[in-house]
Amino acid sequence: MQRANTKTYFLKTFGCQMNVYDSERMAEALARDGYSQTDDVGNADLVILNTCHIREKAAEKVYSDLGRIRDIKDTRKRDGKETVIAVAGCVAQAEGSEITRRQPAVDLVIGPQSYHRLPELIVRAETKSERIVETEFPGDEKFTAMKAPRRISSPSAFLTVQEGCDKFCTFCVVPYTRGAEFSRPVAKLEAEARELAAAGAKELVLLGQNVNAYHGDAPSGRAVGLAELIRRLADIDGIERIRYMTSHPRDMSDDLIAAHAEVPQLMPFLHLPVQSGSDRMLRAMNRKHRAAEYIDLIARVRAARPDIALSSDFIVGFPGETEEDAEETIALVKAVGFAQAFSFKYSPRPGTPAASLEVQVPEDVKTGRLHRLQALLDEQQGAFNAKTLGSTMPVLFERPGRNPGEFIGRSPYLQLVHAVGDGNFTGRTANVAVTETRRVSLSGVIPAA
Ligand code: 5AD
Ligand code: SF4
Repeated sequence: MQRANTKTYFLKTFGCQMNVYDSERMAEALARDGYSQTDDVGNADLVILNTCHIREKAAEKVYSDLGRIRDIKDTRKRDGKETVIAVAGCVAQAEGSEITRRQPAVDLVIGPQSYHRLPELIVRAETKSERIVETEFPGDEKFTAMKAPRRISSPSAFLTVQEGCDKFCTFCVVPYTRGAEFSRPVAKLEAEARELAAAGAKELVLLGQNVNAYHGDAPSGRAVGLAELIRRLADIDGIERIRYMTSHPRDMSDDLIAAHAEVPQLMPFLHLPVQSGSDRMLRAMNRKHRAAEYIDLIARVRAARPDIALSSDFIVGFPGETEEDAEETIALVKAVGFAQAFSFKYSPRPGTPAASLEVQVPEDVKTGRLHRLQALLDEQQGAFNAKTLGSTMPVLFERPGRNPGEFIGRSPYLQLVHAVGDGNFTGRTANVAVTETRRVSLSGVIPAA
């Protein structure tokens, strides 16, 4: 039922795709309550920041934004308008009432497991003008309780299938902010995927902090792994493409590798963070795999799907990292060959084991190692893209480009593609002849049908 409401909200999302998915679900719940979205904070009755705690910079950005939003709230107040400020996401979960202490203008702090209570808590914040901090872990309720119909803003739709992590890498806040691993049941995911397909989704991106550890219950009560979930979702009419992220090397089962060979809808792309090429660092990070095991795993994935595009995450300057360790990471990158990757300077996170290690690496050393690694990864990305020159690939177009007749989409390998063609291709898959490649994107033409 739609409440009478003329209110507007402003929603800003930081961090990973899990947050993007959560923001979409919050937006749907607010729309059902009659809220409309605005891009202008000054015009918003409700401001939500969906935050990220993964690295220090991400968390500090939230506090600087909150300072600016407080000023806007004060200005609006002078005009007789109230503003509710809500902080959601992982900073909310990790810092709780520390947020309202540091920024008293905040009315509501809500952790990622409590979003189904958002509408009710907003009303409480508005009417009782009390500060609310809600960071419980009530389990699987949040998805089920958010009953608003799914909408899509792109033919590529996110679907969170798993949340949380039990791995406890020593640098990472996720096991603390997102809690223990939890997999959503298969039937609920199939129902949501069908809703997304009916709304026009052509691609499903299955999300989870540890997505390949997925082990949801099938209707029979039997636990089902990610590979079987993918096979089931591939049967849904209209779903042309499936991707998943982020995976852990330890959970890359034979079954999932086989799915890459056997399920045509499963795209030839794998984001598989390795973090370091040094066994000493991997042990200190509690990664539960060695460098040689990762390289062997990649060989098995490539045997199943020779053209697969590989992506990874790297951390440089983990406590105690020496030049030799950094060289081992470079050697691993050379041995594997990545199509793209993300690399970060180690950032000590409060409450994680690595943050209290005494042998922190100096900032300038971290910067030097990061530049060296990124130069190599950039070179590999450019080389991977260059190989597609002259080929023809199916591209799922997500939006029109800036120039007339231009559309922007993704190749099977997740490359960004700009292409020109005659017709409207948004929301459709079309073949593209690649005529130009750059480090971060490709250009091409859509031949007339
Ligand atoms: N410092 C730097 N990078 C980190 N990541 C996670 N925690 C930290 C940290 N404390 C990186 C890892 C992870 C990605 C999502 O963020 O590479 O895979
Ligand atoms: Fe963090 Fe490690 Fe879990 Fe990934 S696997 S979310 S890096 S603890």
